[in-house]
Amino acid sequence: MKILITGAQGMLGRDIIDVAKAGGYEVIATDRDTLDITDEHTVRSFVEREQPKLIINTAAYNLVDKVEDPAIYPLAFAVNSTGPGNLAKAAKDMGAALVHYSTDYVFAGDKPEGYLETDDTNPISKYGETKAAGEEAVLSAGVHAYVCRLSKIFGRPGLSEGSKESFVALMLRLAKEKPLLKIVDEEVGCPTYTKDIAMATKSMLERMTVPGVYHMVNSGEGVTWYGFAKEFFEISGVTTPYEAVPSSAFPRDAKAPKFAALLNTKLPALRPRVDALKDFLG
Ligand SMILES: NC(=O)c1ccc[n+]([C@@H]2O[C@H](COP(=O)([O-])OP(=O)(O)OC[C@H]3O[C@@H](n4cnc5c(N)ncnc54)[C@H](OP(=O)(O)O)[C@@H]3O)[C@@H](O)[C@H]2O)c1
Repeated sequence: MKILITGAQGMLGRDIIDVAKAGGYEVIATDRDTLDITDEHTVRSFVEREQPKLIINTAAYNLVDKVEDPAIYPLAFAVNSTGPGNLAKAAKDMGAALVHYSTDYVFAGDKPEGYLETDDTNPISKYGETKAAGEEAVLSAGVHAYVCRLSKIFGRPGLSEGSKESFVALMLRLAKEKPLLKIVDEEVGCPTYTKDIAMATKSMLERMTVPGVYHMVNSGEGVTWYGFAKEFFEISGVTTPYEAVPSSAFPRDAKAPKFAALLNTKLPALRPRVDALKDFLG
């Protein structure tokens, strides 16, 4: 089966490509230079020419704080909403299925018990707004689509200029550079390994799962940034001292959801986060 994978140089895109190739699929991997998803005409002619049976969209504009800037918002909206809409329309017309990735930022973050796949979206940031609009663009196109929400992903770094550095990479870098780390003990989420997302995507598709919205997260209780850092610092043997601070210690342009653990009630459970961290860092 032929699969078109966008965002090929991004953190998630790299693992999606590896897993698809290892599974024997024929992969067409595109980056922004080879297929700009914001251009409807380009997307349509590319899909018409290549005739993939499946499109997996990992392309995104992820620099959350920058999206608050009115000068950046239109670009972020184009990549996170118009682009997925273009892919969805082209996929529908060519009879292909679509996998699209979204985020816990589509929620307000006011549900300490966690969010179900069926909960209404209610973003509190501009980035969240663009991603919620992207979900809507995909789900309203009438295509056979899977919208998989992710949270605080980590994995091998992306290779492209705009690829976002993961929190794990950032903290391990800072632990080498600074004598003391201050880490925000808020913003509960479900950090997840990109390799596990790629494997879960493959198994979701091979099990002929019904289309719809899914929460694709490693198992385990939601954690704050501080709690998450504690987990991977222990695994990595980091000895730099670190302390918990409130989010007010690091003012940000974008509001972040306070409690946005994604509950996975529809897919087989992914492995525990700590096992994923040991695999990634080991
Ligand atoms: N990172 C996280 O913590 C996180 C959390 C929750 C959900 N997610 C979601 O997970 C998915 C994958 O994220 P990621 O962290 O792997 O992203 P990433 O590393 O930032 O990669 C995204 C890729 O998209 C490409 N791209 C940007 N504009 C494009 C365009 N117009 N046409 C085609 N490609 C374009 C970028 O290329 P350039 O660099 O050349 O622009 C980049 O290589 C996204 O849907 C994201 O919203 C991520």
